[in-house]
Amino acid sequence: MGIRAETTDEIKLDTGSNYRQNIPVGVKLIKLNKSFGNNQVLRDLDLEVNPGETLVVIGKTGSGKSVLLRHIIGLEEPDSGEILINGMDVNDPEVRKKHRFAMVFQSSALFNSLTVADNISLYLREHRLFDDESTISQIVSHTLSIVGLEGKENNMPSELSGGMKKRVAIARAIAMNPDLILVDEPTSELDPMMARTIGDAILNLRKHVEVTQIVVTHDIDLAYYIADRIAVLDEGQIIEVGAPQEIDRSTNPLVRKFITTQFEREEGGTRL
Ligand SMILES: Nc1ncnc2c1ncn2[C@@H]1O[C@H](COP(=O)(O)OP(=O)(O)O)[C@@H](O)[C@H]1O
Ligand SMILES: [Mg+2]
Repeated sequence: MGIRAETTDEIKLDTGSNYRQNIPVGVKLIKLNKSFGNNQVLRDLDLEVNPGETLVVIGKTGSGKSVLLRHIIGLEEPDSGEILINGMDVNDPEVRKKHRFAMVFQSSALFNSLTVADNISLYLREHRLFDDESTISQIVSHTLSIVGLEGKENNMPSELSGGMKKRVAIARAIAMNPDLILVDEPTSELDPMMARTIGDAILNLRKHVEVTQIVVTHDIDLAYYIADRIAVLDEGQIIEVGAPQEIDRSTNPLVRKFITTQFEREEGGTRL
């Protein structure tokens, strides 16, 4: 299974579980086009995401980041172009049989009437992946520890800060044991300290779970902090892709403008 065994607790978690082996997927977008009326949001967009990497798409507000994620998870149909998951069309039923996707929405989308533990375990219960409560509670506490929220099982969402809710939403995604995690604007509306805890949760997730991650954000600091590679979205296209150091050294004027305006706005560019 996908959650790596590092402590004895995790080894116990590994045995007799109904989690299947997870397979980090590769994602390939080929010449995607999408318009809403006269508003062309994606223009011949090409992007390749490698299995097991964390790719961060950065772009201005309104540049089409959420629209892009909705295409990858199959919630939106492109006008033209292809979305391939390990070489198969995203809407091919085989994809859903073989692979599990988890989306962390910008709003966190927790159920306010459920405890943290019940929010995290909802998917496991609905799909009857486990029938014993002790395995479910082990998974809940394990995923909470990955995101740095040990002991919050019985809290209600209303008792948590915005950053904690985001981390519960990430824990819920991890509990699904997905092959692909999509995260929409994890640090929007959070102060820099909170943003850092989210960055840490995403980095820690990588240590424990083998998964492909696509994170979209307008937060260049976060991108530098968590990304294996960064893709820059502008005018409906990916104008540059590279490791954080490569993006930092980019000579593309549009990329430079995006990086520098953001650092100027944020007190001279203190990075996470
Ligand atoms: N369902 C929709 N109907 C019409 N326009 C939409 C819809 N979803 C997004 N858009 C438009 O697409 C553009 C990109 O939106 P979005 O992907 O939400 O931007 P971002 O996430 O980068 O801030 C915006 O101009 C937005 O108004
Ligand atoms: Mg958005």
